[in-house]
Amino acid sequence: MDTEKVIVIDFGGQYNQLVARRVRECNVYCEIYSYRTDIGQIRAMNPKGIILTGGPNSCYEPSSPSCPAELFELGVPVLGLCYGAELMMHVLDGKVEKASVREYGKTKVMVDTASPLFRDVQPETICWMSHFDYISQVASGFSITAHTADCPVAAAENPEKKLYAIQFHPEVLHTQEGTRMLYNFVRGVCGCSGTWRMDSFVEDSVRAIREKVGNGRVLCALSGGVDSSVAAVMLAKAVGGQLTCVFVDHGLLRKNEGDEVEAVFGPDGPYDLNFIRVNARQRFYDRLSGVTEPEQKRKIIGEEFIRVFEEEAKKIGAVDFLVQGTIYPDVVESGLGGESVVIKSHHNVGGLPDYVDFKEIIEPLRSLFKDEVRKAGLELGIPETLVYRQPFPGPGLGIRIIGEVTAEKVRIVQDADAIYREEIARAGLDREIGQYFAALTNMRSVGVMGDERTYDYAVALRAVNTVDFMTAESAKVPFEVLQKVMGRIINEVRGVNRVFYDLTSKPPGTIEFE
Ligand code: XMP
Repeated sequence: MDTEKVIVIDFGGQYNQLVARRVRECNVYCEIYSYRTDIGQIRAMNPKGIILTGGPNSCYEPSSPSCPAELFELGVPVLGLCYGAELMMHVLDGKVEKASVREYGKTKVMVDTASPLFRDVQPETICWMSHFDYISQVASGFSITAHTADCPVAAAENPEKKLYAIQFHPEVLHTQEGTRMLYNFVRGVCGCSGTWRMDSFVEDSVRAIREKVGNGRVLCALSGGVDSSVAAVMLAKAVGGQLTCVFVDHGLLRKNEGDEVEAVFGPDGPYDLNFIRVNARQRFYDRLSGVTEPEQKRKIIGEEFIRVFEEEAKKIGAVDFLVQGTIYPDVVESGLGGESVVIKSHHNVGGLPDYVDFKEIIEPLRSLFKDEVRKAGLELGIPETLVYRQPFPGPGLGIRIIGEVTAEKVRIVQDADAIYREEIARAGLDREIGQYFAALTNMRSVGVMGDERTYDYAVALRAVNTVDFMTAESAKVPFEVLQKVMGRIINEVRGVNRVFYDLTSKPPGTIEFE
């Protein structure tokens, strides 16, 4: 859709998606491709610039990921980051060796501000380093443009060929002026004009969907989450009454959430679409009865969800298109772009219903990152409460209840979670903390309430900060807030006599508590 494109070539680094996100923050569209991508294919994409990411290997090992020397002869500016920088030197005629000490963490870097990459950057700036190898000799035609106390080549460039190498990670926020450097590369060196904007993306998408769908019928499974909601509204704007949204209420949603979804998408809401809410609560509880193993619960909920959806789809009959709320990280993480390995198959990705009669899939958010999906949502006029909704797993509270799922336990965790969210918002922390929720442990213990002995459940409160959901740290929620939440949960939620705060980071824990 957008012709001005930068390509990120992925060498397996943990920050590959971050690189792409930062480039897009500079209003430049970019896509991630594996280093195995054919050079002819890259040339055919006609990129304005190429960025080589970091990676875990040593470029001088024969089995390590590499790239052909022609990549540096395309006449397209290339920026190598960490492994990408070392590889650039190695493939050209520079030299990379193992360093005697690993440079890791925030490091003071002295930069040459005459370099186009370091325009408007402080001469001494803090950058994030993480490398075992170092560039001991730059390739011919290159000059050194940055160094640190331990690293003689923290950056180098060959401006004539528009080749740039940076040993540190500008994409990581610990590199204080990293976004500036990436901006300098894509907007300065590559000459991108910055046409990637959410308002035009939304407009173009709505127009393209309208053309594609014509008079066809469209079916969308609505979960109430951000992605499927934004996709549904985009479709509703494009084709209105030709769209039917099926919302399966599996009884594992957060408190009042089913009604909130209905208020937005139902007949009293602002959109002209056909909305079907299926109250399938009891069916899910029946299937989950006696099941305690978390993966099994996930499977049952996923399968049942698809079965309910299929039954509704059968009643509707043949449709032309099925909408999926797939977003770009799903595409990258399922191994279709970049080098990422599949970590876990998510409930709402790839689990396509078998028996729905449709001709084609529409994935209107396939090229967007999460924060861009939110921007698109606001652009489409979706209420902020929905757009900034906490991430919520497809299997819902089913995986926030340890042990068997019962209606009683669902009620407890819904009520406790609602109190927690209310107090976090009241303390003004709701946009600050990455993800937070209450879970129900399967532990019961003795307590005393009034003059009575109790034997009740313990609720666990979780709050984490995370950049990419791959790693996370527990958030420092003020003690007074936690105490207030504890007091309210004990007083207001029947069946609970203890409240814990989960301090575990990821790894070794996961973000969810299942
Ligand atoms: P974990 O627990 O794996 O969670 O550390 C990482 C992030 O993924 C969310 N999550 C899911 N999201 N379907 C989803 O859409 C799922 O099945 C699922 N499982 C976990 C989780 O809430 C966190 O944001």
